[in-house]
Amino acid sequence: MSADFAFADAAEILQSARELLEASLFSYQNEPVGTRAALSAGVAAENYADCFIRDFVPSALVFLFDGRSDIVRHFLRVALRLRGLQEEIEGHRNLPRVMPASFRVEREADGSEVLHADFGDRAIGRVAPVDSMMWWVLILQAYVNMSGDSALAEEPAFQRGLQSILSVLLYDRFEVFPTLLVPDGAFMIDRRMGVYGHPLEIQALFFATLNAMQELLVPDTVTGPMLEQAAKRRAHLTEYVRSFYWLDLPRLNEIHRYETEGFGHDIANPLNIYPESIPEWVSDWVPDDAGYLLGNLGPGRMDFRFFALGNLLSVVFGLSTDEQNTAIMNLFDHRWSDLIGRMPVKLVYPALVGVEWQLLTGSDPKNTPWSYHNGGNWPVLLWPFVAAVLRAGRRDLAVGALDVARMRLYRDDWPEYYDGRSGRMIGRRANTRQVWTAASLILAEVLIEQPDRLSFWDAKIHL
Ligand code: GLC
Repeated sequence: MSADFAFADAAEILQSARELLEASLFSYQNEPVGTRAALSAGVAAENYADCFIRDFVPSALVFLFDGRSDIVRHFLRVALRLRGLQEEIEGHRNLPRVMPASFRVEREADGSEVLHADFGDRAIGRVAPVDSMMWWVLILQAYVNMSGDSALAEEPAFQRGLQSILSVLLYDRFEVFPTLLVPDGAFMIDRRMGVYGHPLEIQALFFATLNAMQELLVPDTVTGPMLEQAAKRRAHLTEYVRSFYWLDLPRLNEIHRYETEGFGHDIANPLNIYPESIPEWVSDWVPDDAGYLLGNLGPGRMDFRFFALGNLLSVVFGLSTDEQNTAIMNLFDHRWSDLIGRMPVKLVYPALVGVEWQLLTGSDPKNTPWSYHNGGNWPVLLWPFVAAVLRAGRRDLAVGALDVARMRLYRDDWPEYYDGRSGRMIGRRANTRQVWTAASLILAEVLIEQPDRLSFWDAKIHL
């Protein structure tokens, strides 16, 4: 380590993050349209040269804060066009048009440029990127609010895009809950990890997207009734998540003593959760004055793992109540070494081990205990962490997290993730020069100075 590295100050670190973000930009038809996922020289998987929709979120917010809204506008247009590239799957009648996980621009021999997209049909494990279309809507909402250009969302192509996304989301399948049902690996955790069903992160995005639709979709005879339906669904979803996903000590006691095998409407344990399914670590881990939203909920199934992004987005978007937000912050405070440790923020706590790891990940060597998605620490979570703690009035936690992260990220050359119980090791297969790591640090530093800048995402629902 050189002396320069050891003594870099916050300004130099930010400068290095900004250089990486800038270097990651790529163009289509002479306009910048996206940022590559990672610029590491080493063995990154082939698709890390793509722009992932979810990875672009912190980049987009940085560009919008910097007044470079044109980049975000180009991105929004290109991503919308990409939906047309989705290939039909034989045997599917009307395949809903979705947003790809990622895209890239390839140059042909004659110099022309071609857009290529991955709708999950090329992705490792063939996972469906359900979060992409929702993040696209939320980036559009951020763009309109920060640039003031509401005309973009009103363009017919955008209105058609919004309408078809809303109809995909509201389309009834085999559902008996207000939550959205998805397959495994349908969001940031894009590998098998026992996260099929109704994962929290998808529900938080669903909630925020239903809100955004009210702002972005112009009501007419077709969209008016859809917006009404969206408002009703949002109300049910909110009530359901706030009561059934919530876990604190009183709730845990209730579940611990649940009666089971109840039939009919007014029963305390409608999902027939067996108290025996509560993992041993939970009762000692939840502090008296803290709580969190469960990772997943379905018939006979409560996933007690703590998923950081779902909880943080619930705070940022206003899905959780003010009291719940305070309790979530207390959890981070009292369980700092588990959830922040040597690098903010632990993606999932705790890790799946042994037979659970074998059965739920399919023995995935990238997701061994306390690595990558299975209990790794991800610096990209800095921005939602800082946004959430500021929203809940806990600036002290944001300052603490940034102090832990800043110098280390710079010195380690912007890794994708860290391994170990406290995130002390650089991720075994992590890329360096990971762009959303750098963008997230920039964004966190901006937010701590200007805490209200993301308030347009906050639905402030009072039920
Ligand atoms: C990994 C992450 C995913 C991310 C992608 C590109 O697959 O799990 O969330 O979008 O890398 O950084």
